Amino acid sequence: MEKQEMLYEGKGKKLFATDDEHIVIAEFKDDLTAFNAEKKGKESGKGELNCQISSALFELLAQHNIATHYIKRLNMRDMLCKKVTIIPIEVVVRNIATGSLTKRLGISEGSILPHTLVEFYYKDDALGDPLINDEHCKILGIIQEQSQLELLKAQARQINEVLKAFFDKKGLRLVDFKLEFGHDNAGNIILADEISPDSCRLWDKQTNQKLDKDRFRENLGSVKVAYEEVLRRILA
Ligand code: TMP
Repeated sequence: MEKQEMLYEGKGKKLFATDDEHIVIAEFKDDLTAFNAEKKGKESGKGELNCQISSALFELLAQHNIATHYIKRLNMRDMLCKKVTIIPIEVVVRNIATGSLTKRLGISEGSILPHTLVEFYYKDDALGDPLINDEHCKILGIIQEQSQLELLKAQARQINEVLKAFFDKKGLRLVDFKLEFGHDNAGNIILADEISPDSCRLWDKQTNQKLDKDRFRENLGSVKVAYEEVLRRILA
C-alpha cells in the first residue's frame, strides 16, 4: 500500500493517507519530546525501535482478542493501521507510583499501588493535558455515556493484565503507561496510537534501571540503548 498525502503530524508519528479511505500509514519519528514539548530532542533510529516494539505489542494484544487499530508492520518505520477518530482522552494505567502521581498525591516513589489505577487526562496541549474525571468527560462532550467510559477503563485494565504478565516474563516491570483509543469506521472503540518506551515506563526487574523515555526526561543518557534492550527482550 502506497503512502499518499500526510494527514497529520504529531510529536512522535506522522500519519499518511492510503488508497483506502479507512486505512492509514503511521510513520514513527526519531523526535523526542517531554513536558508538553518544552523539552525537545532527537535520537536517530528511535522511530524504528518504537515501530517494531509497538507492532510486537499490538500483535500480542491481538492474540488476546483485544481490538486495536494495528493491521501490520510495513517496514522498520511504517505501520499500517485502521483509520480512527481519536477520543481526546489519555488513559493512564499505573501499577507502581512514580511521575505525576507521586508529585500530585505524595505517594512514595516506587511503591506498589494496592490496586491498578486508571486515570483520564484531557488530550489538549494548550491546557497541558489536565487530569479529568468521568463528569468532566461528559461536560466536555468527549463521551456522554457512562457505559462507554466504563468500557475504556475495562479495556485499559485488560490490556494492563496482558502487558504486565508479558513484560514480567521479560524481566521488566510495567510501572505505568498511556493509551489512546479511537472510533473506527464501524463506530467501535478500539485501541490506537502506540505502545512503546515513549508511552510506557519500564524498569528492569532486578536493578530498577529505567528503560524508557524517563532517560530522556531526566537526562539519564543511553536512551537508544534502553529502547534497544526493550526490543531485544520483547523479541527474545
Ligand atoms: P505521568 O506520571 O507523567 O503522568 O505519566 C504517566 C504515564 O503516561 C507514563 O508512562 C508516561 C506516559 N505519558 C505519555 O505517554 N504522554 C504524556 O504526555 C504523559 C504526560 C505521560
